[in-house]
Amino acid sequence: MKLSIGSDHAGFAVKERLKKALQEQGHQVADLGSTNEEPCDYPDYAEKVARDVAKGTAERGVLICGTGIGMSIAANRISGVLAACVHDRVTAEMSRRHNNANVFCAGARIVPAGEIEANLKVWLETPFEGGRHSRRVEKIVKLDKKG
Ligand code: RB5
Repeated sequence: MKLSIGSDHAGFAVKERLKKALQEQGHQVADLGSTNEEPCDYPDYAEKVARDVAKGTAERGVLICGTGIGMSIAANRISGVLAACVHDRVTAEMSRRHNNANVFCAGARIVPAGEIEANLKVWLETPFEGGRHSRRVEKIVKLDKKG
């Protein structure tokens, strides 16, 4: 899968780990920063990854900050993005099955790195169920247009 990945300083080490794991799994990964642990602002990286997903440059996005919350709030401001803050296997699976999330966010200060890696694998491998969930997701998409 073609993926764009980003982090702030708090998520940098986990982002590096995920990038390596994703490449080993055969994914094509564009790393949009950050490039080190110097303090930086998570909305800058959320925007870069979210815009790639919205444009279709990436099929899915991955964003890591301290809590996963700032990244998900910021990414969800970009039209076409459905970002989920994932903290365990259930939220990984359900954010795909029911919400068709196209951006995975996680908190490096909340969830251990190995669990984030495992949750991301589940998230990438889980399909959207469609059916009644399509109607609900379409209602979310319409909210974009209402402003
Ligand atoms: C950075 O200190 C922290 O605020 C950020 O990584 C993130 O957790 C924001 O939601």
